[in-house]
Amino acid sequence: MNQLLQLTSPSDAQQWANERRCEGSSLALVPTMGALHRGHEALMNRATELSDFTVVSIFVNPTQFDRSDDFDTYPRTLEDDLRLCESVGVHAIYIPTATAMYPTGFDTSIDPGSLARRWEGEHRAGHFAGVATVVTKLFTAVQPHIAVFGEKDFQQLAIIKHVVRDLDLPVEIVGVPTIRDDDGLAMSSRNVRLTREARLSAAAIKRGMDEAINQLAPGQAASEVIQHVARRITENDGTVEYVAVVDPVTLEPLLTLDREAQLLVAAWFGGVRLIDNAAIPLQR
Ligand code: PAF
Repeated sequence: MNQLLQLTSPSDAQQWANERRCEGSSLALVPTMGALHRGHEALMNRATELSDFTVVSIFVNPTQFDRSDDFDTYPRTLEDDLRLCESVGVHAIYIPTATAMYPTGFDTSIDPGSLARRWEGEHRAGHFAGVATVVTKLFTAVQPHIAVFGEKDFQQLAIIKHVVRDLDLPVEIVGVPTIRDDDGLAMSSRNVRLTREARLSAAAIKRGMDEAINQLAPGQAASEVIQHVARRITENDGTVEYVAVVDPVTLEPLLTLDREAQLLVAAWFGGVRLIDNAAIPLQR
């Protein structure tokens, strides 16, 4: 097992990263908010495959939460997180304090533009500005050659790629497929907040998406897919926030399935907000 180095300030992280870069080593960063699970483990494994050194950042970023109760109750499991990082072979964790990240007078924010306005952006005011800003700060501290993100947060991944391109950030963004429980529920740190009943019901998201995609016919209206998924969620005591069929690059809604598309879902089960997504292949 690796001895896990703990970096706690941007300047510590920069110094360590500079030394590794000067030695000619490659660095990969897995940005997280902790409460690590098998989904994060897959990201860490991918990072270690792709680089000499893997850094996991753990920072529950206050600026990306639109509700204070969500921030306050976000699961925090640092001891378990450290054990998992060690067992996977992570070399360093970056755990800055909130004041190290946002010192008094901090007043800069990255607006990730139109990609951030719809879907999650529409329902969680300021969320993606918070994400784009913190991720850019994490990149500046750790200076990774590669950064690994989950495809579960499909819009987040698209926005980070877009920010990296627009700001010429010298980092390659790698997406890793969603890891799911046996019944299909996407791994998420928020799943621990689900009651037993809500946890069982929440599997309806993936079931509904699979059914809708498997029944597709060429030229079908996107609204039929949307209605099917929404019905499955509500039948299982969930509340739909949005179900959308979108262009996978622009994230603009599609009316007909005449090209590859992405299905995006946000729904509430037992007071917990969950998101998921699935690729819709081109129907011929
Ligand atoms: O996906 C997350 O856990 C967070 O949004 C991220 C990318 C670590 C930024 O805080």
